[in-house]
Amino acid sequence: MNRDDTTDTPAAEGPAGPAAERLVGSVADRDDQAVEAALRPKDLDEFIGQEKVREQLDLVLRAARARGATADHVLLSGAPGLGKTTLSMIIAAEMGAPIRITSGPAIQHAGDLAAILSSLQEGEVLFLDEIHRMSRPAEEMLYMAMEDFRVDVIVGKGPGATAIPLELPPFTLVGATTRAGLLPPPLRDRFGFTAHMEYYEPAELQRVIHRSASLLDVEIDPDGAAEIAGRSRGTPRIANRLLRRVRDYAQVKADGVITREISAAALGVYEVDGRGLDRLDRAVLEALLKLFGGGPVGLSTLAVAVGEERETVEEVAEPFLVREGLLARTPRGRVATPAAWVHLGLTAPTGGGSGARTGANGQQDLFGT
Ligand SMILES: Nc1ncnc2c1ncn2[C@@H]1O[C@H](COP(=O)(O)OP(=O)(O)OP(=O)(O)O)[C@@H](O)[C@H]1O
Ligand SMILES: [Mg+2]
Repeated sequence: MNRDDTTDTPAAEGPAGPAAERLVGSVADRDDQAVEAALRPKDLDEFIGQEKVREQLDLVLRAARARGATADHVLLSGAPGLGKTTLSMIIAAEMGAPIRITSGPAIQHAGDLAAILSSLQEGEVLFLDEIHRMSRPAEEMLYMAMEDFRVDVIVGKGPGATAIPLELPPFTLVGATTRAGLLPPPLRDRFGFTAHMEYYEPAELQRVIHRSASLLDVEIDPDGAAEIAGRSRGTPRIANRLLRRVRDYAQVKADGVITREISAAALGVYEVDGRGLDRLDRAVLEALLKLFGGGPVGLSTLAVAVGEERETVEEVAEPFLVREGLLARTPRGRVATPAAWVHLGLTAPTGGGSGARTGANGQQDLFGT
């Protein structure tokens, strides 16, 4: 997978970043973490959308079960909030195996990894989140563990150091990454199956919302769910978060039942518009259209115009605007697409050098930054 500009990266929306408290941010906040466990589908049948991934994974797991073997190592790649952690737990559940959860940043030394690997039970699922952030020595130990179920534990230092081989029970590694492009090829190649998670269709998110509403004991009608789905940026985590805010509004301002009107009014209060743009996204777009006639305009100038840091505009607002085909990054600067004018209800100036000649996906003339 290439590292394109259209992916919301954790660097862009990390917990400490400027997007920390954003209602439409894709990284989990503390609130999300508290409720997500309760909303996670428990098996493949309950997991909504991602049809291809589900079908392929179902085959991999069924075949392993039929052989009475441990499933192949699985790599899950995709943007934050699309269901990687959820799927890893489902893999363990479907295999009837225990799961051990750790993450790349938690494994600083090869010894940390050796300790985990040597304590695994046969058939156990080892979930390694943010696998692209593991240290190099640990990564090299993992190669051998994945391939031969063996590690060499180095005892001592310098010329007297010896490698003691250690046999491991067969296990299934499930790696998750938001940045598959950052994985070294030797690591990527050792996974038997790679699942690329895509953004969800509105109809799928609508099902996610219905399911969550019933788990949260909230009454919602189909139009109410559709309205929230359309504002959720293709991401179940955001859908669940918006649902909770709408539920609050419905309780306080109405009889608790979520309808289209209630959803629209509630999300209006939080400044999340019909397409999932928030205040920052719209400020960037509005400046581009109203102050610069749709561009092209340099990033720094645009950032000053909205009173934000360059990085905030580039990493927090732009990825979604580009993905939505509202903004294009060109060698001459940022340019609004015709869809941007339509979305903000403005008329594009005729003639002149403005207006992107890009298609609806805004993919023309992009840099690869
Ligand atoms: N296909 C799905 N069906 C129903 N709910 C889902 C689905 N995918 C994700 N969710 C819900 O979205 C939330 C976020 O999912 P999850 O934590 O698995 O995302 P993630 O890909 O691991 O994100 P991150 O990259 O931040 O770790 C969970 O509460 C989960 O219940
Ligand atoms: Mg996760």
